[in-house]
Amino acid sequence: MTITPPLSERTPEQLRAHVAEVLTRSRERSTALTDAVDDDDLVRQHSTLMSPLVWDLAHIGNQEELWLVRDVGAREPVRQDIDELYDAFRHSRASRPSLPLLSPLEARAYIREVRDKVLDVLDHAPLEGRRLLEHAFAFGMVAQHEQQHTETMLATHQLRQGDAVLTASPPPRATTRPRAAEVLVPGGPFTMGTSTEPWALDNERPAHQVQVAPFVIDVAAVTNADYAAFIDAGGYDDPRWWSAAGWAHRQDTGITSPRFWTRIDGVWWHRQFGVPQPLAPHQPVVHVSFHEASAYAAWAGKRLPTEAEWEKAARYDPATGCSRRYPWGDDDPTPQHANLGQRHLAPAEAGAYPAGASPLGVQQLIGDVWEWTSSDFLPYPGFAPFPYDEYSLVFFGGDYKVLRGGSFGTDVVACRGTFRNWDHPIRRQIFAGFRCARDPRAEELG
Ligand SMILES: [Fe+2]
Repeated sequence: MTITPPLSERTPEQLRAHVAEVLTRSRERSTALTDAVDDDDLVRQHSTLMSPLVWDLAHIGNQEELWLVRDVGAREPVRQDIDELYDAFRHSRASRPSLPLLSPLEARAYIREVRDKVLDVLDHAPLEGRRLLEHAFAFGMVAQHEQQHTETMLATHQLRQGDAVLTASPPPRATTRPRAAEVLVPGGPFTMGTSTEPWALDNERPAHQVQVAPFVIDVAAVTNADYAAFIDAGGYDDPRWWSAAGWAHRQDTGITSPRFWTRIDGVWWHRQFGVPQPLAPHQPVVHVSFHEASAYAAWAGKRLPTEAEWEKAARYDPATGCSRRYPWGDDDPTPQHANLGQRHLAPAEAGAYPAGASPLGVQQLIGDVWEWTSSDFLPYPGFAPFPYDEYSLVFFGGDYKVLRGGSFGTDVVACRGTFRNWDHPIRRQIFAGFRCARDPRAEELG
């Protein structure tokens, strides 16, 4: 068996081989998601929440050109004339279909030309001398960006009407159900964030000590059956469980269940990528907003974990006092650890990944569904924007809640124990679920 050293210890040759592999994997996924539909479907807007798929495709190439061809490679621009069209800050998603976008044929040719140049840059660029180049960070950032867009494109596929076009094997079943429903996480300091992970993004930095009071957290995410019980108990009609903003949103929109759910003759069904199917009771609930997650937690006599609680449950090892890269240790995720990378197009039921449990026994924190936390998206103490303000800085303090852990749609390269995602509390098209936490009772602290 070959042991792969951590990124920070790889030789330039090993780094180049790794970059080529992650770039190839991300392009295979973008291609699969865009080749699955015809050109009409690629240019159509399936929801005002999303870009046309052909915009995502050319935007992926444009970001790759900006960072790797022009900046790292110092090469001539490929298509400077289209920068403005594919600047995500310039045009809202809703307005993108009316722009003079590249056609599917042109977009595919463009991203191919950019990638050819990037592979040449990769062969020649020194992987040192500038922070952007150290440990091939710029290449890692671009690969993460493409994979973040493959997850966005997967969400567009979920919103798309029409016949099913994506296929994947079902997620693994649980071999045993988790023995306990909850775990007590001891109080005290732990190290949150990272200063050493080479491809961590600016908002994950720097590592810092956080004091966390003891708390209890669910071993598994809230399931479809759990959530259906909340609906049956009248949860959507009882303002006691909802925050003021959540209740106002529930009243304005008239929502009465997670997105994509329908009840037929008393049985809950949902539509996954164009396929209607009865809800799997033990799979995590997905496509719920922060407001719905918070209301469920209040109804259950619990609350959502804070972001620090979530990360402590995921990374803290009581035996060493150290924080791990992932719940299971420092090794990169494998298919035995977590449901990531669009291998399966659904979350797996509780207990399906015992090898991915944290030292305290919390399961499936990585993969399956993004998990809403109760925390606003804010900078860590000592935060410094890198390599540009628009990655994180402009989003801090806005109307965003933090999500953690990644989903079945998230690639390994864009998922770490420290990775932070954020979105508006009303959003439901993302692959988001949640788990609950609570304060311990006096007798539990013994
Ligand atoms: Fe982007």
